[in-house]
Amino acid sequence: MAYFEWADDLVIDSGPIDADHMKLVALVNELHTATSQGTGQEVIHKIMAELITYTKEHLQREEQIMVSLHFPNLERHKDGHTRFTEKLNALQKKYEGGSITVASQLSTVLRDWLSLHIRRSDKEMKMLLQKRAVR
Ligand SMILES: [Fe+2]
Ligand SMILES: [Fe+2]
Repeated sequence: MAYFEWADDLVIDSGPIDADHMKLVALVNELHTATSQGTGQEVIHKIMAELITYTKEHLQREEQIMVSLHFPNLERHKDGHTRFTEKLNALQKKYEGGSITVASQLSTVLRDWLSLHIRRSDKEMKMLLQKRAVR
C-alpha cells in the first residue's frame, strides 16, 4: 500500500485538476520512499524542490480554473491556499537552515493537507461542475 493512496473520492474534474493532484500524490510517495529508505540528501533535495514548486504551481492553476468557472467561494478558497503556502515557505526555510527532519515532515504535512483539502474544499468545485452538467 502506498504511503498516500489515490482514492475515488479524490476525483474532482476527471481532467487537469485531477492530473495535478495525482502528480502531487506521486511526488509525496516518492519523497516518503526516499526519506524512509535513507536515500542521499541530493536526491531528497531534488524531490523536495520539485514538490514545493509543483504544489505552488498547482494552487495557482487551480485558482485560475476557479476564476474561469466563476467559482463562488473563490476568496475563501484562496485564503486556504495562501495559509498553506505560508506553511510550505516556513518549512522550506527550516530546511535551508539545515534541519534534516524537514523532508519527512514535508511528506506528512502534504499528505494530510492534500487529502483533507481535496475532499473538503476542492470538492466544492466538483459539486459545481456536476450541478452545471445537469442543467
Ligand atoms: Fe487542489
Ligand atoms: Fe484547492
